[in-house]
Amino acid sequence: GDRRKLVVGNWKMNGTRAANDRLLQAILSGWRPLQHVDAAICPPFVYLPQLAETLASSPLIVGAQSLNPRANGAFTGEISGEMLSDCGCHYVIVGHNERRRMQSESDLYVAEQFLAAQESGLTPILCVGESEQAREAGNALDAIGQQLRVVIEAAGLEAFSRAVVAYEPIWAVGTGKTATPEQAQEVHTFIRGQFGAQGNGLVILYGGSVKADNALSLFAEPDIDGALLGGASLNAEEFIAICQSAE
Ligand code: G3H
Repeated sequence: GDRRKLVVGNWKMNGTRAANDRLLQAILSGWRPLQHVDAAICPPFVYLPQLAETLASSPLIVGAQSLNPRANGAFTGEISGEMLSDCGCHYVIVGHNERRRMQSESDLYVAEQFLAAQESGLTPILCVGESEQAREAGNALDAIGQQLRVVIEAAGLEAFSRAVVAYEPIWAVGTGKTATPEQAQEVHTFIRGQFGAQGNGLVILYGGSVKADNALSLFAEPDIDGALLGGASLNAEEFIAICQSAE
């Protein structure tokens, strides 16, 4: 298709100012211009200004890992969409399975985050994905369909012209077990199908143990438009190689 590819590095809860500087310098010095691929990094909140400054005159885009859906107020420890925009973010991840499970974020809460992100001018990266249990029971597509439906009902189909979807099978995150390209392609086709004609332009990423040595076969699938990387985004050579395989 003519969709641009996108590779997003989710640093999760990793980094220090010094380690970030080393990693970013290594990425920037090894970087070669890409025509068909956008690349973004989502560091912990506190490092957003550092990344925004370091990456300001580079092709790399900055994103955040979460947001609170309220505009402001008495929400101790929380970060709003406006704050993220103000710190130079373009993207924000919502509905990552680690937050759905560890912070008990519901489908409805994720929908509120999605809306708040767009209201703040951010592009949400909506994560969906099934548990191992759901996959083994043959319910993977049902589970993903439900996660999508709640956000589509809240935001409307048209909102997905300014959003990215990431498919992350929970059993493949940080486990070294990747979905096969065929398994991922099946789910990506299903996801695209939920959006009707609007689906043609939707960028759908795959996430879950993507590495330099399996990225090319995933990106060869017609409905896999890039990757959401965890572990591989903490290594400059891996990150660069994966971005290049998307070109
Ligand atoms: O957000 C990224 C995903 O959770 C994938 O993590 O590449 O370490 O499996 P991983």
